[in-house]
Amino acid sequence: MPKIGDIQLPDFPLLLAPMEDVSDPPFRALCKENGADVVYTEFISSEGLIRDAAKSTMKLDIYEAERPVGIQIFGANLDSMLQSVEIVERTKPDIIDINFGCPVKKVVSRGAGAGILKDIDLMVSLTAAMVKHTDLPITVKTRLGWDDDSIKIVEVAERLQDVGIKAISIHGRTRAQMYKGNADWKPIAAVKNNPRMHIPVFGNGDINTPERALEMRDDYGLDGAMIGRASIGYPWFFREVKHFFETGEHMAKPTMQERVEVARRHLEMSIAWKGETLGVFETRRHYTNYFKGIPNFKEYRMKMVTSDDSKGVFDTFNEVLDKFGNHRFD
Ligand SMILES: Cc1cc2nc3c(=O)[nH]c(=O)nc-3n(C[C@H](O)[C@H](O)[C@H](O)COP(=O)(O)O)c2cc1C
Repeated sequence: MPKIGDIQLPDFPLLLAPMEDVSDPPFRALCKENGADVVYTEFISSEGLIRDAAKSTMKLDIYEAERPVGIQIFGANLDSMLQSVEIVERTKPDIIDINFGCPVKKVVSRGAGAGILKDIDLMVSLTAAMVKHTDLPITVKTRLGWDDDSIKIVEVAERLQDVGIKAISIHGRTRAQMYKGNADWKPIAAVKNNPRMHIPVFGNGDINTPERALEMRDDYGLDGAMIGRASIGYPWFFREVKHFFETGEHMAKPTMQERVEVARRHLEMSIAWKGETLGVFETRRHYTNYFKGIPNFKEYRMKMVTSDDSKGVFDTFNEVLDKFGNHRFD
């Protein structure tokens, strides 16, 4: 069974992907409750951290219940990354993850995120220095390469392993692809099949059904699956995958009561964590999926995503329960 450093994981662990404005403490806690084995924070700017920017440091908050948790940082400057490692260490995460995969222009143009895929030597030396600078396990999340002509992920993964990372998660797209096309898991399997690889290799990209997760395990032979979009507004995805692995059958979808209950707790935790205004605002993106599949739901969704205060949202949850309480999700 795979291990990240000393952290023992179950067979074929499921990891919650780092997602900006999504993978915050309340959401991570809900995913953990529903079967995620490792959770990651959204990416945090090393430059922001060393300037002590409030927005960046708030992202370091972790709840005990969500462990093991990895804090993901990005940057391209050695000093800033090393200082960030020290700042992150103080908050006692279980893992520090380096983001070498973000395709967004403002990150890439500074040579960070997927930008570093254009300079593999720098990627390796930065990683080596970070590994030496901490006792925490360092993991890396990256993409296949910069573009189709520069897919060197087998070599890159091996070099990163050789400088001491404890696991690698690979999104099966290039930077040039952004989020377009389909994720290609074959190059990820090639990394795993490299006889020199001994750290866990986790696959990522387009796992949106339990069958796809099984395919990643059985047909591609990877060590675990990192799941992003399929979990947004649907933390039950993790337990559904596990149920499918154990029984070969699909688990019943969560009832309306459970959906409302989880949406309510999500909002309550978000408000407790970041205050009324931000809590209400940042929970909005989850509602579409929490209530996906209910006919004629638009009016209620609109109320949830346009209410400026939590009372409006909580009242709408109650209305939804009254009106759709018996709806069956098949
Ligand atoms: C809203 C959103 C925010 C994301 N933010 C991050 C991030 O902060 N760090 C990161 O490494 N990847 C980030 N990603 C990429 C995901 O971690 C993941 O690699 C990608 O969505 C593919 O996996 P999926 O098909 O399971 O969603 C983000 C993706 C989405 C959709």
